[in-house]
Parts: sequence; structure tokens; C-alpha cells
Amino acid sequence: MASPRVLSGIQPTGDSFHLGNYLGAVRQWVALQETHDAFYFIADLHAITVNPSPAELRRRTRVSAAQLFGAGIDPERSTLFVQSHVREHSELAWILMCNTGMGEAARMTQFKDKSAKYGETSAGVGLFTYPILQAADILMYQADYVPVGGDQKQHLELTRDLAQRFNARYGETFNVPAPYILKEVEKIGDLQEPLAKMSKSSSSPQGIIEVMEEPGPLRKKIMRAVTDTGSEVVADPENKPGVTNLLRIQSVFTGTPIPELEARYAGLGYGAFKKDVAEVVIEALAPIRERTEKLLTNEAELDRLLAAGAARASAVARETMELVRDHIGFLPKP
Ligand code: ADP
Ligand code: TRP
Repeated sequence: MASPRVLSGIQPTGDSFHLGNYLGAVRQWVALQETHDAFYFIADLHAITVNPSPAELRRRTRVSAAQLFGAGIDPERSTLFVQSHVREHSELAWILMCNTGMGEAARMTQFKDKSAKYGETSAGVGLFTYPILQAADILMYQADYVPVGGDQKQHLELTRDLAQRFNARYGETFNVPAPYILKEVEKIGDLQEPLAKMSKSSSSPQGIIEVMEEPGPLRKKIMRAVTDTGSEVVADPENKPGVTNLLRIQSVFTGTPIPELEARYAGLGYGAFKKDVAEVVIEALAPIRERTEKLLTNEAELDRLLAAGAARASAVARETMELVRDHIGFLPKP
């Protein structure tokens, strides 16, 4: 039997991914390629919902791809591609839009948050239909699992609803995917506001650790991370969200269970603990940064890897779209 398929995407909206992206999503992508048929992509169609400049978009798309390879995505085992290289994504998004209610799209909280920033009426229509394009991305590859952070749950629910509705209306067409979300890392907190998620768009620079960050500033940020009243290093998400966040980060990077870490730092206070967290993070990110920088010196090779990924992805997309077009009643292309 074929391995189950995983698919996920990430937007090229910054010059570096942050620790939330890495621990919440990308690290699982790397692990899952060992046991699954893996498809991963740079969501450049999603990124244009906020109108980046063409030069910025081009740079960030390449930098994002380099970081994914740098983080350990293996082009031999995974299909890594750029979303806009597979034209079928836009086509399927349109078809799904015609099967989505205004009300169900309007309920998406990410749209509400993002549009609040621009003002309800000046936010682009693309921001509104963003989750439907995401559903198209997922259903196109008949994915079984979608590894993402906790903030994507609602988009995954919509995707499942759209798949079930389409299958009911037009006959069995799409696999109904399940989210793959790891509890311990589903929401990595902002270092300055640990109850909020670390986020490219809303965190302050001091609240974010970038994967590409140099050790010096990285160490400073962790040492200055907001901790909580008291001095005990114990996990307590409600009363000690700052300490809990750092414990989770140290625990996933080292594979040490949190109770063991709590015992290790008993009586030592926050300073010693944070120093160790900083070193653990620096050590884990260094090889990713080095590999990424090396890849970025060879743009032609990077583009070649992305072209190979696009070719493999396109083959699957074409197959799905043939089925979709036929089921919906479009005449065969002459
Ligand atoms: P951002 O929210 O910073 O704009 P993206 O929306 O591009 O990041 O997220 C890319 C991936 O990283 C998604 O799977 C998302 O769920 C995950 N992710 C983002 N921020 C976090 C976080 N703070 N904790 C866990 N996962 C996260
Ligand atoms: N919306 C996702 C995010 O903000 C990115 C994304 C686009 C995605 N298409 C996807 C994630 C398909 C998983 C599957 O992070």
C-alpha cells in the first residue's frame, strides 16, 4: 500500500521564518518525509493578498525555499515547489469558491483579524478568499494529513467541509484530510507577550526569534524574554506562560521531558535556565542557517530543485483537475 500523503505550505512573507514556524510546522514536515509521501510548497499566491513588492516577493520566495531545504527537507524524498508554478491551484480555488457560502467564509477568524488591520472595506478580496485557496492547495494533492500550527485549525475545518460538500454534490472526488497538530508546539508564544503566538505580522522584533538570527542577538532576546513572578522553573501555562513557553522550546529541541527540566533547575532560578535555553536554540538553529546561506549562494541550483518539484507536483495536480472538471460538468478540452 502507498504511504499516506502529507501536504503543507508556508507563506514567503518574511526574510526569515521564526521559531513558531519552525517548531509548529517545519520540524514536523522534516520528520514526516521519512514515513509519508510528502508535498510542501511556498505559498506565494497567498502572499500576494497583502501586495508585497515584486522584488521582495521574488527574494522571499527563494529565501523561504532555501530555509526549507536548510531545515532538512530532502528534495529526493519530498516534493517541494512554489505554489504559483502549478497553475491548477488558482483554477481549483475558483471552483471551490463557487461551492462556498459567504457566511462560512466570513466566519474565518484569521480574515477577521487581518481585515481589522486594514479596515473591513479596504481589505482585499483575496484576504477573504484566502482559506478557499488553501483548501484548493490541500485537496489538489488528495492529502491525508496537513502538518500545521494550531492557528490553522479553522482553515482545516473549512477544507474538510468543502471536500465533503463537493463529494456529495458531484460524486467522490476528494480525499477528506485531517490536521496534524502537535499539542506541545501548536502555539509557540511571543517572548515578550507569551500568551500571544509568536507571529511575523504581530510580534515586536524582541518577541520573535528568527531561524536566520545571529547567536548574539538571539541570546539577548532569550535572556530578556518575559518570565513570570516567582523564581521557580515550573510549567504552569496559566500563571507562568513565559517560563512554560521557554520550557517547551527547550524540551522539544533536546527531547528532554518537561518534568526532568523542572527538576534540573530546581532552586537555580531563571537566569541559569534562560542561559541554557539560549544555547540549546543557538545550537539547533546554527546548521539550518549555515545550510540556508550556502544554498543562497547558488541560485541556479535552487531554481533547478524548485523546477523539479513543480514538475512532480504538476503531474498530481493535472490528474486531480481532470477528475474535477469531468465531475463538475465542464466539456473535455478539445
Ligand atoms: P505567521 O503567523 O508568523 O505569519 P504563517 O502564517 O506563515 O506565520 O505560518 C506558517 C506555519 O507556521 C503555519 O503552519 C502556522 O500554523 C505555523 N505557526 C505560525 N506561528 C506559529 C506559532 N507561534 N506557534 C506554532 N506554530 C506557528
Ligand atoms: N495559511 C497557511 C499559513 O498561514 C499557509 C498555507 C497556505 C497552507 N496553503 C496551505 C498550510 C495548505 C497548509 C496547507 O500558515
